[in-house]
Amino acid sequence: MSLAISELLRRSTLFGELSPTELEALARAAELREFARDEVIFAMFEPADGLYVLTGGRVKVCISTSEGKELIIATLGPGQFFGEMALLDDEPRSASVVAQLPTTAYRIHRSDFDRLVEAHPSIARKLMRELSLRLRRANAQMESLATLDVIGRLARYLIDLARQHGQVIGNAWVAVRRPTHQDIANSIGTTRETVTRLMSDLEQRGLVVNEGKMSYLREEVLQREGE
Ligand code: CMP
Repeated sequence: MSLAISELLRRSTLFGELSPTELEALARAAELREFARDEVIFAMFEPADGLYVLTGGRVKVCISTSEGKELIIATLGPGQFFGEMALLDDEPRSASVVAQLPTTAYRIHRSDFDRLVEAHPSIARKLMRELSLRLRRANAQMESLATLDVIGRLARYLIDLARQHGQVIGNAWVAVRRPTHQDIANSIGTTRETVTRLMSDLEQRGLVVNEGKMSYLREEVLQREGE
């Protein structure tokens, strides 16, 4: 059992360079948590209990606006982690994290996380690298909200989603499990009805193909955009 866990942790963004013995120790301390779709993993402003490493599914990171609406600031998938900010700055949770699909994650207790970061400069470096990447994405999202119209934001959202969570399938297409239209609307600052209408526009223009719960984008579109 713990061997399988240590292999999953080794494949994560943070812990890839730990030795097999260290991974084994971490695996013994990690606690497997399973979440149903739409289940709240933790809420904004709660005190922090630990760091979560995703092994399956997908989560959304969200904050509530002053009007009580949900704003989705990021989605994270297998291999990625969340819950590090409150551990690093000793503040309450900066956002809520909710399962967007059925999700599994290992929870690593705060004291184990602190010990690992202190003992392994490689983990601290990877943390900083990932925080920089997230800041870059947040900057890009700010730019997108300030400068693009809604269809532009939707197109960019789908491209980013496919880049981050998609899988290349045959014939140079990338497949990605599509969030609900409400979740897409909450990510790009519009309404569900507008997403439904504009999604048809994008399909007619041939940018995206939607079939069941999946969306398909051409690989070349992903490579071209944002260069
Ligand atoms: P924490 O503040 O402990 O709890 C909420 C988590 O959401 C946070 O740690 C990060 O892991 C994650 N998070 C917050 N803001 C972002 C963001 N802009 N991009 C990606 N993840 C984020």
